[in-house]
Amino acid sequence: MLEHGGRLRVAAARYGIPLADWLDLSTGINPCAWPVPAVPASAWLRLPQDNDGLEAAACAYYGTEHLLPVAGSQAAIQALPPLRPPCRVGVLHPGYAEHAHAWRRARHTVTSVSAKELNDIVPQTDVLVLINPNNPTGARFTADQLLHWHAQLAARGGWLVVDEAFMDAAPEESLARFCPRLGLIVLRSLGKFFGLAGARVGFVFAEPVLLDQLYAHLGPWTVTAPSRWVATQALADFPWQQTARRRLALDSERLAFLLKCHGFTPHGGCALFQWVCSPHASEFHDRLARRGILTRRFESRMPGATDPPSLRFGLPGDETGWARLDAALQALSDATICA
Ligand SMILES: Cc1ncc(COP(=O)(O)O)c(C=O)c1O
Repeated sequence: MLEHGGRLRVAAARYGIPLADWLDLSTGINPCAWPVPAVPASAWLRLPQDNDGLEAAACAYYGTEHLLPVAGSQAAIQALPPLRPPCRVGVLHPGYAEHAHAWRRARHTVTSVSAKELNDIVPQTDVLVLINPNNPTGARFTADQLLHWHAQLAARGGWLVVDEAFMDAAPEESLARFCPRLGLIVLRSLGKFFGLAGARVGFVFAEPVLLDQLYAHLGPWTVTAPSRWVATQALADFPWQQTARRRLALDSERLAFLLKCHGFTPHGGCALFQWVCSPHASEFHDRLARRGILTRRFESRMPGATDPPSLRFGLPGDETGWARLDAALQALSDATICA
């Protein structure tokens, strides 16, 4: 099983701290989520139906109609690799590890590639999988750069898969609007920016033939009717989206500044998290967890991996959370200086 953020119950049992007392910064989920209203009773009663308003709301939000709703982008991450015969796949590393895992499981030859190596790997690759902005490094790729790689891959029947799970806070560089294009696949999620990870809703943007194959592979009713209803309302709530973008930009800057003030200058980040590299990442993770603050630790167990140990910090959701983090970072930096 791959490691993920958000495993609060495991942390609570391990550190003997009650669930309610944790400040969970281990995910990149917006702590000030879209406020879910009461779901109409009819949504529980009937089977989910296509074109109930979700596809139209998504089309308006993402700017293209060639899309397929899925039960979180994770569902697409798992369903895409079996749609191709075994081939050479380059996957950005460090990055969301489920991608490499899914392609390997479908018997493809997977090469982990750093951001700097991407240009060189394209001629030797059939499928290139990127996360933009990347999780956990926060690295961003311009649409021009991505379309350049896509053109090279598509000319040989290849695919460019761009996971845009963290794109919504600053969507100018999204490739969704360029879909459908042969060999271009874009994944979006309602889990991060909208803070609706539990609803399990995401979207795939691709050429219609591929969307049909995915649909056939996944089967009917993949997104529940209550989740479809909630997602439809959230995608259409333009004023909330505007306010959330402004707030996330401020909070992300605030988090970067706070970390820096305590001597933990981030090496990267995006609107929903900051990424700090340190040889002491494991110890920092443990010390913070003892104070009931959960971060996401990254330590590559891949043979020959050169990526540094690191921690990802999500955003606190209220002033109490900010004060707790401030105090914990102060104690951590005091302990680091004394050591
Ligand atoms: C980069 C990235 N892509 C996709 C996912 C899956 O998100 P979901 O299935 O909730 O849409 C995650 C979850 O952490 C992620 O970090």
